Amino acid sequence: MIVLGIETSCDETGVAIYDAEKGLLAHSLHSQPIHAEYGGVVPELASRDHIRKLTPLIRQVSCSAGVDLHQLNGIAYTAGPGLIGALLVGAATGRSLAWALKVPSIAVHHMEGHLLAPLLEFPAPVFPFIALLVSGGHTQLVRVHSVGRYTIMGESLDDAVGEAFDKTAKMLGLGYPGGPALARLAEQGKSDRFHFPRPLTDRQALDFSFSGLKTHALNTLHATEGHLQDRADIARAFQDAVVDTLLIKCRWALEASGLSRLVVSGGVSANQALRSRLHQLAQQQAWEIFFPRLEFCTDNGAMIAFAGCQRLVAGQSESLNIAARPRWPLGDLTAPGR
Ligand code: KG4
Ligand code: ZN
Repeated sequence: MIVLGIETSCDETGVAIYDAEKGLLAHSLHSQPIHAEYGGVVPELASRDHIRKLTPLIRQVSCSAGVDLHQLNGIAYTAGPGLIGALLVGAATGRSLAWALKVPSIAVHHMEGHLLAPLLEFPAPVFPFIALLVSGGHTQLVRVHSVGRYTIMGESLDDAVGEAFDKTAKMLGLGYPGGPALARLAEQGKSDRFHFPRPLTDRQALDFSFSGLKTHALNTLHATEGHLQDRADIARAFQDAVVDTLLIKCRWALEASGLSRLVVSGGVSANQALRSRLHQLAQQQAWEIFFPRLEFCTDNGAMIAFAGCQRLVAGQSESLNIAARPRWPLGDLTAPGR
């Protein structure tokens, strides 16, 4: 089965072609630079840019995969959660193309895409495992039994971890998206100057709360002169607090589940401090740990083609109605074939 995957939930247009037997054949991504000048994603501009870029990107990926569109056996597109206008561009394009080619289409949950992205790598994790999903919109610890069988063990009560990175970065005068910029600044920061709290670690809860860290960063910034070194030290203290908190919760989730396999995915899993600290912890605890390659941590079409393929192979597909779900709890998903 050869599946075209389309990702348009936010500000990246991602397209990929995945072959159930041969693996990933080609993928390409267009990141929208236009939002940087506004300091955040402008939904209407995102939708318009997806319209401009999606069709040429599909042509380009089909060409580099050496796959004619008529050879496709199915089309997968992100149907939510995300920005409604942006989602509708992918949904309308995916469904229309599927109808024209007379192949099935499948609506993919964006976070299921992230969750399954490490399965594109070799060696791939085997089920069951615990997934830490850390993106711009979500922070979740999920017990993953198999494709579509997910138990949410904990999630963010306020800002998602990527959102906290972005907001703190903005406060420190860094551009958008702020996560990678803050991580770069943190490399120049001293670890022993400021100590930020590790939220919700005073009790054995698996939920997260990162909005207080942003306020803590602001108060700390106001208490300094705001020089580059001050800001670097704050970035370092913020990142250390986030990474420590995520590590503590991962350890609790694995202990509670009795599992020893951890999968980490979503935009913030590209963070080098998080990756190296988790690798160290996994070694100490004798866990197996899996990350996607860096380009598949953040939004991409490959994870959508892969997740859609798992469901299409199991016989699941959609009616002709074009629908998108800006809000869509991951826990609502069921296993394919049910
Ligand atoms: O998964 P993703 O591409 O989109 C969503 O589904 O939200 O995640 C984007 C988020 C942004 O908040 C971005 O700042 C953050 O991931 N991010 C990072 C890094 N790379 C991306 N945060 C910290 N360190 C990074 N290296
Ligand atoms: Zn994402």
